[in-house]
Amino acid sequence: MQYDFNQVINRKNTDCFKWDNRVETFGTDALLPLWVADMDFASPPAVITAIKERAEHPIYGYALRPPEFYQAIIAWLKKRHQWEVKKEWLLITAGVVPAINLAILAFTEPGDQVIVQPPVYHPFFSAVENNGRKLVINKLKEENGRYFMNYEQLDSLANDRTKLMILCSPHNPVGRVWTKEELNTVGEFCRRKNILLVSDEIHADVVYKNYTHLPIASLRPELAHNTITCIAPSKTFNVAGLATSVVIIPDQAKFERFNKMMVALGMGMSNIFGIAALTAAYQYGEDWLEQLIDYLQGNLDFLVQFLEERIPRIRVIKPEGTFLVWLDCRDLGLNPQELKEFLIYKAKVGLNDGRGFGPGGEGFQRINIACPRQILQKALIRIERAVQRSINS
Ligand SMILES: Cc1ncc(COP(=O)(O)O)c(C=O)c1O
Repeated sequence: MQYDFNQVINRKNTDCFKWDNRVETFGTDALLPLWVADMDFASPPAVITAIKERAEHPIYGYALRPPEFYQAIIAWLKKRHQWEVKKEWLLITAGVVPAINLAILAFTEPGDQVIVQPPVYHPFFSAVENNGRKLVINKLKEENGRYFMNYEQLDSLANDRTKLMILCSPHNPVGRVWTKEELNTVGEFCRRKNILLVSDEIHADVVYKNYTHLPIASLRPELAHNTITCIAPSKTFNVAGLATSVVIIPDQAKFERFNKMMVALGMGMSNIFGIAALTAAYQYGEDWLEQLIDYLQGNLDFLVQFLEERIPRIRVIKPEGTFLVWLDCRDLGLNPQELKEFLIYKAKVGLNDGRGFGPGGEGFQRINIACPRQILQKALIRIERAVQRSINS
């Protein structure tokens, strides 16, 4: 079956964050939104059918998670990521962000330090700070348009209050799919310093050709025992609103400690539609995902070519995975606030301001390319015209 990712689906007035929250987010709804990390594509038909079937039954009471639910997760990880996980390692949360907060609460004390690698997905910062823990910044290094971890600095940062590190793998927003060597180095560092590694692998399934996502916990049992991995069907199959994610904890003592925190906070239940969607997506969604990746690759190639030929002052940091693209806008000669206002009010596009991703984000913007190509093209033409107007004025 051929899926139509070119289809433009009107999301306005569907209580959709990306389109219906424009005034609150940007101060205006007169812009094309290519920001928050969901997709303007329909979910796979198998997911829609599974939700409809469940909705047909008129009682929506407390749900249990059937064996097929767990089997679907286990089979998916084995097939797509060559990782053999056991059911006893799996816990279910209402999202990856809740899972990261839970890990911080379960494994650190107030005042303890947590390492993050900005520019990075901003809820990592709030998860640390809202819980009274301290952020330790291990900024990524950019070299010729590609980002790397700064291991030398990492080593010097850790002390006996450093208890946890949050790894973004693949990395949002810089688009890196970390190599085996990089993962081994960071994993070994955490083990050596007795720092628990929380690996956010929510973007694991969307990886471009010539790159392979490696779950860090799949590399070696020693790393598995020091890692809490978070995955979800939410980005992959566009079901983030169904709030169902998976936490993988191979170490039994750590599993129990995490679970105890979940129980203490009353977070054990799942959404029945989330259960149905995850199961169907992992069981039947692979063909759709392959076509999605092809389409996203096409959007990425289109973006790269458009910017190179028509707006060379904006440079693409070429992503190896994720449908989010980090744009280096420093050559536009605007300060970060001017850049933000230029895009909103002159170009009339809604991107994510790089400053939101912490140190290293100044002068950058993040664009979400998971939309029909004609929307992406429209947004790029708007930016091109605004740049031309500003040069001519
Ligand atoms: C790296 C990363 N982690 C987590 C999330 C969101 O997780 P959830 O909606 O499951 O809490 C996102 C969404 O953009 C993300 O990019």
